[in-house]
Amino acid sequence: MLFVEIKRWLFSLIFSLFILGLIGGYFALGGSEWKQLFFINKFIASTGILLIGISFSLGPLCHYFNIFDSKLIYRKYLGVLGALYGFLHPLITVLFLSERFFGKWKLNNWFAFVAAVIATFLLIMMVLVSNKFAIQKLGHEVWKFILRLGYLAYFLLLLHIILLKYPRWIMWIKDFPQTILPSFSLISAIFILLILLLRLKALFDSEYSEHEVGKKQTPSEVAGQNQTSN
Ligand code: HEM
Repeated sequence: MLFVEIKRWLFSLIFSLFILGLIGGYFALGGSEWKQLFFINKFIASTGILLIGISFSLGPLCHYFNIFDSKLIYRKYLGVLGALYGFLHPLITVLFLSERFFGKWKLNNWFAFVAAVIATFLLIMMVLVSNKFAIQKLGHEVWKFILRLGYLAYFLLLLHIILLKYPRWIMWIKDFPQTILPSFSLISAIFILLILLLRLKALFDSEYSEHEVGKKQTPSEVAGQNQTSN
């Protein structure tokens, strides 16, 4: 049991480092000084966004395509790791990059700031309830409600990114084709949008129901407590 848990955490961690490396590669390809903390902070934030999105997409994907069934168990691990990357980014921003951002940024983008703070708070709640003990204490309905707040957090993060980064995207459109690669923040924003649309489709799809998902995984399994090995 413990071995299976450790194996899943390790696999998810390696996967997250792979995503981090890919995003780093994208920045390096775009000519960024990728070794600077300013850019590393962006890779970390973007890795958080991608991991959380992959975690959110596994439920609906698993419903539509059976090949994802064996990966459903990774919802918790990827989601928690994504949130941890997400927490690291404001920590780095506040502790080491505050001079760069907080003077002008905070005043001009107060809504982007508030959205990020609420999203971070919701992600913390999600991480705290991602265990079997929380399901037993809270009951299935409350527990499910808290996990669903994750979609609100994800939407708030979309606003956070749009409000902070859209001037960059406009600059890129104007500069194109001199600058070929767009800011990775644009890719993050489109990714969030696609994941939220996938989730909405799943919600409104008459064939899809939580009952169906429940057939594939129990709440304990969602919290990563089952014995199935992958
Ligand atoms: C209190 C919490 C937060 C604060 C103060 C904050 C602050 C910032 C700041 C200052 C930027 C601009 C960075 C830049 O232009 O280089 C930024 C961008 C960004 N943030 Fe946050 N953030 C917070 C939470 C989060 C969380 C939880 C996530 C993800 C899980 C996130 C994801 C992003 C992303 C993807 C970008 C765009 C990075 C890029 O330029 O490629 N933020 N954030």
